[in-house]
Amino acid sequence: MAEWDAIVLGAGAAGLFCAAQAGQRGARVLLLDHADAPGKKILISGGGRCNFTNVNTAPDRFLSANPHFAKSALSRYKPQDFLALVEIYGVAWHEKTLGQLFCDSSARQIVDLLLEECVKGGVELRCGVMTGEVEHRDGRFHVAGESAPRLVIATGGPSIPKLGATGFAYDLARQFGLKVVQPRPALVPLTLAGEDALFTELSGVSADVTAKCGKARFREAALFTHRGLSGPAILQVSSYWQRGDEVGIDFLPDQPADWLIEAKQQRPRSGLAKVLGETLSERLAQRLTERLGVTGELINQTDKALRAAQARLADWRFLPNGSEGFAKAEVTAGGISTADLSSQTMEARRVPGLYAIGEAVDVTGWLGGYNFQWAWASANAAALAI
Ligand code: FDA
Repeated sequence: MAEWDAIVLGAGAAGLFCAAQAGQRGARVLLLDHADAPGKKILISGGGRCNFTNVNTAPDRFLSANPHFAKSALSRYKPQDFLALVEIYGVAWHEKTLGQLFCDSSARQIVDLLLEECVKGGVELRCGVMTGEVEHRDGRFHVAGESAPRLVIATGGPSIPKLGATGFAYDLARQFGLKVVQPRPALVPLTLAGEDALFTELSGVSADVTAKCGKARFREAALFTHRGLSGPAILQVSSYWQRGDEVGIDFLPDQPADWLIEAKQQRPRSGLAKVLGETLSERLAQRLTERLGVTGELINQTDKALRAAQARLADWRFLPNGSEGFAKAEVTAGGISTADLSSQTMEARRVPGLYAIGEAVDVTGWLGGYNFQWAWASANAAALAI
């Protein structure tokens, strides 16, 4: 039986990168995954082009019970570091928007890059392995018939179970006495009911909005779906949303103050739907106008009524009745509590040799390459310590 220095559980973004980095630093690493192939989420990420990092990465773009936890790892492995690796492999890339870096051609290139890095590190990768029970005795972690003094939990969170995602990381963490912050679907479409559900008839219609939930606000596109709300602005606020919270939408974030009064002066014979239709899709303009109950020409509206309509359009309140859940969530918020981990090494404070990295940990990035950057950075922090 081989003598391993470390066993990494989960050959996703974090596990592949950690195994490769540790291996290249001289550790003998065994990487295990229960799926039949590594990096399945990477392959479908970014619409198949993998938004592999974000150049605007900063700790305030991550949610966690301890907002300071991610700082150390993020400062020691930056977007430029991963980009340098991407360039070494000759992967063509482009910046799409808001600092998001994507492959020009295929996410497969990122998986191939990571696998090649594992080969360079002499990592042994085994897929289709049923991990089963993990035992800890004589200072070693025993799993799947192998053992090592170090074990890295990189099995992600339960979002998109059909790709092999599980809550295994949490079971393992609890087995070793680590706390778990209640996991919940994040970067997920929200569902609407009651009067709000009337908007689902606009399925397919999108608008450039500012979406708000609590103190979080995102200026991006929102999309109506047959079940409720989606699109980048909504996915972003969904990570902050809790049951019972309202989501506010500013449908016209670029309009100056009193724009509707000005419209009345300039185009008195126009109706509200027509004016809104100059910026929003016709169907959305029509629906909003109906809901506001503003009928007829602008000249016939009082300034007070127009100001009230304007205020509602700037902060339209939806009360989602839920989300589309882990089946549709891009990530899982919550996870292994950072209170039980070292922010320097990702090692469990009270279980020497046990590490947790990537999405399994209670650190969740915004949409736009931040979650992969966390996977690389946390993997790097653990690899340096192994
Ligand atoms: P990840 O889930 O990648 O890997 C975990 C691995 O553990 C899997 O291979 C799984 O099979 C394995 N595993 C689970 N249970 C196990 C067990 N019991 N035993 C053994 N192995 C087990 N992020 C981003 O930054 N940019 C993007 O473009 C996208 N796009 C995107 C699209 C879609 C559709 C989704 C679902 C997600 C994204 N993300 C993203 C999020 C990103 O994919 C995610 O944050 C990272 O993959 C997390 O990496 P991890 O390695 O932590 O988990």
